[in-house]
Amino acid sequence: MQTATPQHDEQNTARPRIDMGELAAHAEGPALVDAVTTGARVTLRWDDDTQAHFPWLWLRDHCACVECRHPLTRERLFIPLDDIETPPAARVVDGNLLLSWADDHVSRFDPVWLHQRRLENAAFTPAQIVPPRRPWHVGFTPERVSHNDFMEEEGDGERQWLEALLRDGLVLLDDGPLVEEEVSRLAGRIGPMRATNFGARFDVRSKPNPNNAAYTPIALALHTDLPNWRQPPDIQLLYCLQNEAEGGESTFADGFTVAEILRQESPEHFRILSETPIDFRFQDEEHDIAIRAPIIELDEDGRPLEIRFNNWIRDTLRLPLHDVDAWYAAYRHFWQLLHDPRHQIEFALAPGQMIAFDNRRVLHGRRAFDPNTGKRHLQGTYLDLDLLESRLRVLSRQR
Ligand code: OGA
Ligand code: ZN
Ligand code: ZN
Repeated sequence: MQTATPQHDEQNTARPRIDMGELAAHAEGPALVDAVTTGARVTLRWDDDTQAHFPWLWLRDHCACVECRHPLTRERLFIPLDDIETPPAARVVDGNLLLSWADDHVSRFDPVWLHQRRLENAAFTPAQIVPPRRPWHVGFTPERVSHNDFMEEEGDGERQWLEALLRDGLVLLDDGPLVEEEVSRLAGRIGPMRATNFGARFDVRSKPNPNNAAYTPIALALHTDLPNWRQPPDIQLLYCLQNEAEGGESTFADGFTVAEILRQESPEHFRILSETPIDFRFQDEEHDIAIRAPIIELDEDGRPLEIRFNNWIRDTLRLPLHDVDAWYAAYRHFWQLLHDPRHQIEFALAPGQMIAFDNRRVLHGRRAFDPNTGKRHLQGTYLDLDLLESRLRVLSRQR
C-alpha cells in the first residue's frame, strides 16, 4: 500500500467531502453566489459570471458523504436506481452547495469542484498526468535514463522513464548491472510481469531446440510480439546481459506514425490493412494460440490503436480469391515503409542497457548475429500499460 492518500479524482482539484473543516479551505477558484432549484435541475451561479445546470440525480449520484462513498476506500456506494421526484432544497452555506433531499439526506459540494465539472463545459477532462503520444520524426532517438536515476527513491528518473515510454513508445535505460533477473527487479517497480506462453520472464539467446525465431540467430524483421493473442502484451522490456556476437543490432519503428504515412500515400492500402482481418497463429508442443484480426486496428476516431505485425506467425492467408493480390500489395507497402531507413532506427544494445517499448505501437527487430563470434543474451518480460499509467499517477501524487 502507498502511504500517500489515494485520490479517486484527478490531482490538485477539490472533491466533495463531508468534513466541514476540510471544506472550509476551498480550492482556488470562483465562489458560489447562488443556487436555485428549477424544473429537474439545480442552477448554480459563481462570482466569475458563469452559470451551470446540474440534474438532480447527477448531484445525488456524486454526493461524497460517508453513506454515499465508502469512508476508507472512497469508492462509490450510492446506486442511481431511482429517479428523484421531489426537488431538493438548495442553499449556499459557508461557500458550499448544500442540498437537502426529500428523504432527509444532505449533500455538500465544493463550489470549485462543481465549477470544473459544469456539464455545459464539455472540454473538462481530468488533469493530464499521462503524456499524449508523440509521433517519431525522422532522426528520432530514444530518451535515455540511467539505471541509477531510475532506482533513486526520491529522484525523477523513474518518472522520466515512464513519461518517455508513454509518449514515444520507446525508452532506453543505461548503465545497469550485469546480473541475471535485473529485468524482473526493474519490472517489479512498476507491477507484476505479464506472463505468456514463453513464461513471465524469458531468455532471448540462440537455443538448441528453439520454438520461436527469436531463440535462433536469424535476423528478425520488424514485428510485434504475440499478435496471435487476443490481448498482446502492452509493454516489452529487453535487458541486455551479453552482446559480443557479430551482428544482432536492434531495430525499431513507430508503427502508428508509419501507418499514418501509409494512409497518406495510399488510402486504399491503409483501408485494406485496417479492415481485413487475417489469421495469426503460434504452435508448439504445448500451445496452439490463434486469433483473426487486422494488421492495423483503429479506434472509434479512425486513429491507429494497435499494430499486429509478425510475418513468421502469420497463418495461412484465408481471404476471398479476389482480395488476395490487393492484400499482398498493401502488406508490401506497409512493410517497405516500416523498414525504410527514414522510419526505422537501429543501434546495438550494450550490456547493462534495457530497451522498453510499447509492443502494440512500436515494432522491433534485430539483425542476424553469428553465435560463433561471441555470446548474445537478453532477458525480457512484459508489463501492462495500465500499471505504467498507474505508477506515473502515484509518483505524481507524491510530489
Ligand atoms: C523477441 C525479440 C529481439 C532481439 O525476443 O521478441 O524480438 O534483439 N528479440 O533478440
Ligand atoms: Zn450522501
Ligand atoms: Zn520480438
